[in-house]
Amino acid sequence: MQDRYGRTITYMRLSVTELCNLRCRYCMPAEGVCKKTHDDMLTEEEIVLAVQTAASLGVRKLRITGGEPLVKKNIVSICRRCAAVEGIEEVCMTTNGVLLPQLAAPLREAGVRRLNISLDTLDPDKYRYITRIGSLEDALRGIEAALEAGFEKVKLNAVLIGGFNDDEIRPLAELSRKWPVDMRFIEMMPMVDSGDFNAEAFIPCNRVLEVLGGELHEEARDGGVARLYRLEGAQGRIGLINPLSSHFCAECNRIRLTADGKLKPCLHGKAEFSIKGLDGEGMREQFITAMLAKPEWHGELSFQNRSQAGRMMNTIGG
Ligand code: GTP
Ligand code: 5AD
Ligand code: SF4
Repeated sequence: MQDRYGRTITYMRLSVTELCNLRCRYCMPAEGVCKKTHDDMLTEEEIVLAVQTAASLGVRKLRITGGEPLVKKNIVSICRRCAAVEGIEEVCMTTNGVLLPQLAAPLREAGVRRLNISLDTLDPDKYRYITRIGSLEDALRGIEAALEAGFEKVKLNAVLIGGFNDDEIRPLAELSRKWPVDMRFIEMMPMVDSGDFNAEAFIPCNRVLEVLGGELHEEARDGGVARLYRLEGAQGRIGLINPLSSHFCAECNRIRLTADGKLKPCLHGKAEFSIKGLDGEGMREQFITAMLAKPEWHGELSFQNRSQAGRMMNTIGG
């Protein structure tokens, strides 16, 4: 279905939990989340119904997110059932990778085709710092498990942070030579609370172009949010995701569904439309209302002009 600005909505980001086994500083508070009651969250049945409704309105691609989707006990069943919904052509997932050694093969078998895995640094101490509780070794084991399980595509996501990992642009980019993965750098988005990060931490992805300069060959976009390049002889691509320095709202084909059942027309907008407890025509109408409420763009986004979402990233799903 088309929104009021002629954009066709074909992609739903579906968050299945707000919980996470890490605590990334740009994403969630140190103390974790105050666990909402079970009754506040969508059930597996409601998730499947929502995916069926979205598909009937033209959604073809589903990206399962969180929090961390792999901490959800019934995640393999959710993926399998979503992949079987008529009209859904592709189920993908964004994960921190830590639980992939156990789950990569079952997810692939359940019909998940592509994985995006977070990896902000290759330094074990910095990894512990940024995730507050994580171990780099676990994340690297997860990436290797994903590569072994035969996903159609694996992308790595690094949130680029001034004074933290801007000195690791080259080693991170080199991963696209070592493995058949796309390495993507993402401008950090200022949510309601960005922990201890000051204005200097918010740097543009053009920093990657300054470091890798003439070594990058531009490649055609693939319908996603990243500008794409390749290092000579590399197996995968380098991607730059620039929500701050040049937003991509004009091409936005997305709608979001949070784990507590709110349709979000825009990542950075306040508007939310609940589908909890709805079914049939009621749910369909709420989807149509949400799609028609997509704003033209999310407004100025910078360290001074923070996201209007009023939620932290882990409660939205990125
Ligand atoms: P594919 O294109 O399917 O690979 O997915 P993706 O790159 O959108 O998914 P991923 O979950 O890996 O997100 C990468 C980064 O892009 C994260 O920081 C997301 O928060 C951000 N992102 C995804 N969609 C949007 C969007 O619509 N607007 C903005 N501003 N950021 C987005
Ligand atoms: N800005 C940019 N990217 C973010 N992510 C989480 N929080 C932010 C933020 N504030 C990324 C994660 C993950 C993806 C879903 O979103 O690193 O790769
Ligand atoms: Fe967890 Fe992903 Fe948020 Fe990190 S970015 S705290 S891994 S949900």
